[in-house]
Amino acid sequence: MTRRLLIAGNWKMNLSLTASIELAEGLKKVAAGINNLDIAVCPPSIYVQPVAAVLKGSNIGVGAQNVYFEQEGAFTGEISVGMLKDVGCQYVILGHSERRHILGESSELVNLKTHAALAAGLIPIVCVGELLKERETGTTEQVIQRQIDGSFSGVSAEDIRKCVIAYEPVWAIGTGKVATPDQAEDVHVAIRKMIEKNYNKEVAEIVRIQYGGSVNDKNAKEILAKPNVDGALVGGASLKVDPFLGIIKSV
Ligand code: 13P
Repeated sequence: MTRRLLIAGNWKMNLSLTASIELAEGLKKVAAGINNLDIAVCPPSIYVQPVAAVLKGSNIGVGAQNVYFEQEGAFTGEISVGMLKDVGCQYVILGHSERRHILGESSELVNLKTHAALAAGLIPIVCVGELLKERETGTTEQVIQRQIDGSFSGVSAEDIRKCVIAYEPVWAIGTGKVATPDQAEDVHVAIRKMIEKNYNKEVAEIVRIQYGGSVNDKNAKEILAKPNVDGALVGGASLKVDPFLGIIKSV
């Protein structure tokens, strides 16, 4: 079974409008012709439209970093899946640990968003991952099992194939403390088993599981070489052309 790798940049709350467009233009140029994997960038929502306009017709997809699950109405400050589709989005990151831990987002809310994204034809990149104290107390798999069960509750076997899961150990995000390739592989194997248990083996073999947390152009090759690591969700190293290209080229 060969899964197509996905390298996605999560720009988080960084860059200006000008810098976003420059980065998109730079990536479009250097990534032209690379077709052995999927590439995406996830700018802040307000820059999704101009970035999507730059990347239109290129081999780089565009994603948002969050969405609301309702279609429309009195939800001040929120954005719908329809609006994201409207401006050229293909992916949406859901349940990132910064949203779970800073903004208190629950797996129940992530689940509503996952259903809304799938119904609209967006590819959800659903993030899961344990805190340092959870790893140290040996509860990593329990924590992730709860996040997987909650986030994908009611999602059909047909739909889960389209989803991407991003394993992002919280202790590795923005800390420079990358998980070892073996630590990542172990959790990815565990996640695949959870999907197999909840669905079936065929589906579990299809679902892409990315690793995220301090991935850069120096450590990417070794992590991405692991059989169950199907790409990377990259924060800091996605904010400049060269390191992000380095990660893409290490596939
Ligand atoms: P860093 O690559 O900056 O550690 O961020 C990872 C991340 O949170 C991607 O979503």
